[in-house]
Amino acid sequence: MWYWTPEGRRVLDGTGGLWCVNAGHCPEKIVQAVSEQVGILDYAPTFQMSHPLASQFADKILQDMVPGLGFGHVFFANCGSTAVDSALKIALAYHRAKGNASKFKFIGRELGYHGVGFGGISVGGIVGNRKTFACQLLPGVDHLPHTLDLKRSAFSKGMPEHGGEEMASVLESIIALHDASSIAAVIVEPVSGSAGVIIPPKGYLQKLKEICVKNDILLIFDEVITGVGRVCDPFASQYFGVIPDMIVTAKGMTNGTIPCGAVISQKHIYEAVTSSTKLGSAPANIEFLHGYTYSGNPVAMAAGLATLEVLKDINAWERSRAMAPYFEEKIHSLRGVTEMLDIRSIGMMGAIQLTPYPGRPTEKAFQVFVDCFEKGLLIRATGDTLALSPPLICEKEHIDMMFDILKSVLHSLD
Ligand SMILES: Cc1ncc(COP(=O)(O)O)c(C=O)c1O
Repeated sequence: MWYWTPEGRRVLDGTGGLWCVNAGHCPEKIVQAVSEQVGILDYAPTFQMSHPLASQFADKILQDMVPGLGFGHVFFANCGSTAVDSALKIALAYHRAKGNASKFKFIGRELGYHGVGFGGISVGGIVGNRKTFACQLLPGVDHLPHTLDLKRSAFSKGMPEHGGEEMASVLESIIALHDASSIAAVIVEPVSGSAGVIIPPKGYLQKLKEICVKNDILLIFDEVITGVGRVCDPFASQYFGVIPDMIVTAKGMTNGTIPCGAVISQKHIYEAVTSSTKLGSAPANIEFLHGYTYSGNPVAMAAGLATLEVLKDINAWERSRAMAPYFEEKIHSLRGVTEMLDIRSIGMMGAIQLTPYPGRPTEKAFQVFVDCFEKGLLIRATGDTLALSPPLICEKEHIDMMFDILKSVLHSLD
């Protein structure tokens, strides 16, 4: 649960590193697995060949994290950004394989974050990440409106009551504008993380799925933050009861130790993509012309397999489910401590949206971040919002400490 500064000061990790250290820092099994693996098989290609750990980790992800939901294949990438790019490319390859090459457009969402590749910033909707590069984005991308509705839903606990169907129905107008025959996929984070924990209103994700199915548009959930127990289940897809065509994961899958990302894909997608490229039984045939030197890197696979073991040892999903109500109670107890616009939380992730200093956006939240660090707590400041996502091993005493420090810093603002 702790970082140590170079001066030897202890800092409580209130953010699981950068939303990735879900099993806590340096669990013995992960340290050992990584250290040993470097000396056994440090690297092996996964182009037209593989090594056992890559298949083992893929199988384990399917069996332990998404059993019985139709997922059948895992494509390994280097990180969240490359996994997002991979998912977008798989969506294009899928429609082309089905004879629908005109379906090439993507629909993202305002305030969405999908990493920093050109694909990710194009479908993403955080202005700061786009404007510097705006002339070089992917063509054929449109965006759903974001789902933050402070007027109706500020200080909601869990999923907001208002606007779910109505907000998701905007997808129908976007489809009407572009025509379904031109749209490959919709990509959203089930809960927007980087934009400050924006939680979908009730019925929203269900409606998106329904519209996608009706229009033969693939639904991609970017679960780089929401996955691996952050929202009380292996993936938020299960928590919300909406199963997409592809899940993008990274961060927590190796507990942040070794970079890794993955696309978990429904069987029918894999089958469509690969059957179209199979040239009889030619052994040299490449099923999907995409991949990274470090896809399935053995050390990352060892880290991932050990991470799944540790998550099992600590009963991560149950633990997250058991602790979430306490986390929710504590974060909402900060209401009114200083001027704020909203408090949001779901599972083991939460945010406090501050009222910014007039004309000086982001300054207040950054000040809180620095002051918390000085007092021994790592939080994350994103825009005017403070975000919290402690490792899932946290105990009540850690949560108490987090919110005591945060409260005293917020008090000192006014
Ligand atoms: C939802 C989401 N997608 C993609 C990414 C990009 O991941 P990475 O930084 O590993 O490339 C992030 C990173 O925070 C993310 O939150």
